[in-house]
Amino acid sequence: MLPYSKQWIDDQDVAAVVEVLRSNWLTTGPKVDEFEQAIANFVGVRKAVAVSNGTAALHCMMEALGIGPGGEVIVPAITFAATANCVVYQGGTPVFVDVAHDTLLIDPQAVEAAITPNTRAIIAVDFAGQPCDYDRLQAIADRHGLSLVADACHSIGGTYKNRSVGNLAEMTAFSFHPVKPMTTGEGGMITTDAPDLAASIRSFRNHGIDLDHRQREQAGGWFYQMTKLGFNYRLSDLQCALGISQLRRLPVWLQRRQEIAGQYDKAFDALPAITPLTTRPEVRHAYHLYIVRLDPAINRRTAFHELRQAGIGVNVHYVPVHLHPFYQERLGTNAGLCPVAETAYEQIMSLPVYPAMRAEDVNRVVDTVSKVTTHQKLAA
Ligand SMILES: Cc1ncc(COP(=O)(O)O)c(C=O)c1O
Repeated sequence: MLPYSKQWIDDQDVAAVVEVLRSNWLTTGPKVDEFEQAIANFVGVRKAVAVSNGTAALHCMMEALGIGPGGEVIVPAITFAATANCVVYQGGTPVFVDVAHDTLLIDPQAVEAAITPNTRAIIAVDFAGQPCDYDRLQAIADRHGLSLVADACHSIGGTYKNRSVGNLAEMTAFSFHPVKPMTTGEGGMITTDAPDLAASIRSFRNHGIDLDHRQREQAGGWFYQMTKLGFNYRLSDLQCALGISQLRRLPVWLQRRQEIAGQYDKAFDALPAITPLTTRPEVRHAYHLYIVRLDPAINRRTAFHELRQAGIGVNVHYVPVHLHPFYQERLGTNAGLCPVAETAYEQIMSLPVYPAMRAEDVNRVVDTVSKVTTHQKLAA
């Protein structure tokens, strides 16, 4: 089975983790600082804070913005549930808006239409690895006095108008889950140019305590204070060592993802039943996912099962978040709220894309997709 995504671990990664295992610091040690600095340099910001996963990164951003009961945060309907859940963790209300038909990225017009006196922030999700239209979103945020933050869990290494993802919004959340462009097993990061937000997040990831144990040791004392309610969202040195090692290879992996996407784009040009999502010219797409839309005449469920049976590990990203029972019951967000997202959901499929894929693997995916969809069209 060719999975839709897959990590790549080599001997250097293993050696980096083993070195930490043999050291004195398994967690909250020097590798955390080193990984944070490496990510900050990579995306070009002043501050980066490592946390235990991308969901924690999103939660930290919401807390740092002071999102609470009564506060609304605008999120796209097509994303992973965590983008909305982080608002609910803080007692706020996610407001789901529709996406653009061709990219499935949050639709700036829908964002503007959803703003109320209670709106506090917008979360832009770089769905599939394609950066959103940050200039338009920032202009809306500025006009209405809102914060714009980024869920870049798919898009590390991407760019928008030659500016790096991680440096396009007030704060940006990353995920290092194994299916993502680089991994720490589980892991996340927040990047920002605002030292006060970074300091607030550093405390929140450590129970809301003002000093971590290394800072206390340096100060030669034992005293610390918990100044707010936080969580244990720390990332270990073992994971950070893996992250440092992975980050070195990320540029090469991104290039390989782009080559694979190019091979798919070319092949599907000749297949009218398959339309890849549009990539806008001003971005460098990180291709965490390669998503196609099937002709509405094709039964996606049947195609999905036939492809899986043929060893192609296709997937569907995502069930529109407002249609999950939790949100339907809590917020009354029923079908019809985001029609573009709902229609797309019936037609999309994620095809395998990961750097270790060989050209023949890509050809196999193309051939199988072609066979399955042509056979269905003929049957119809
Ligand atoms: C868009 C998006 N946001 C947030 C997350 C959460 O990241 P994590 O799994 O690291 O908690 C994911 C993970 O799949 C995601 O795809």
